[in-house]
Amino acid sequence: MELNNTAQRYGLISQLFHWVMALLVIGLIVIGLYMVRLPINAWKLKLYGLHKEWGVLVLMMVALRLLWRFTQISPEYPLHMPLWQKLAAKSVHVAFYFFLFALPISGWMLSSASGLPVSFFGLFVMPDLVGPNQALRELLTQVHKWLGYGLIAALGAHVGAALQHHFIHKDDILRRMLP
Ligand code: HEM
Ligand code: HEM
Repeated sequence: MELNNTAQRYGLISQLFHWVMALLVIGLIVIGLYMVRLPINAWKLKLYGLHKEWGVLVLMMVALRLLWRFTQISPEYPLHMPLWQKLAAKSVHVAFYFFLFALPISGWMLSSASGLPVSFFGLFVMPDLVGPNQALRELLTQVHKWLGYGLIAALGAHVGAALQHHFIHKDDILRRMLP
């Protein structure tokens, strides 16, 4: 399979970025929603630690993915697809890149504002973005939560559209993101 995208399909590198990050991000959403609802105990703290380090990994990966994307063409849409659908698909993709930067950065900032350092898998500690600040922590917690809900809404539209193309329109939109 081609490493680069072609006019017909996504290449191997774009597919790897897409599916590895989709798994990571869906995992982070599930763990995030679950961990905030737990009473304070060792399991909750363990999940917070995991959520934070895997979230930082997403931030690093999205930066590489965006650089890669700038070097690539996008596969063309089928002729039957109306303009509004192409625009909607592109807008959701742009929104995803926004969320994948804004979520980890707000999470990192909220950890710094809570006075809790962010360790990257025990290899090193991320620098604090802001000093401890209770009011800022509360604000950033809300920002992070609503960004998470926004991402979930975008994901619902994205997956719904992908499945509709595959099972109803029976075109190759989903297949070209698969090996
Ligand atoms: C793409 C990456 C990320 C996603 C999708 C994500 C998603 C979420 C979600 C859905 C929640 C639950 C919000 C709620 O219902 O209140 C949450 C909570 C949280 N996230 Fe993230 N997150 C990401 C990255 C990060 C990073 C990198 C950090 C820190 C370094 C972080 C720190 C936190 C913290 C501390 C909470 C708990 C906030 C509280 O106690 O209310 N997140 N995250
Ligand atoms: C949080 C998880 C996900 C994120 C962040 C995400 C993000 C993206 C982005 C940014 C693109 C544009 C191509 C690129 O820049 O790489 C894309 C394309 C695509 N995604 Fe996802 N995706 C996710 C989950 C899924 C899932 C679960 C499916 C399958 C049901 C899916 C199916 C597709 C398809 C078929 C395309 C190609 C669409 C086209 O050519 O317009 N994605 N995705």
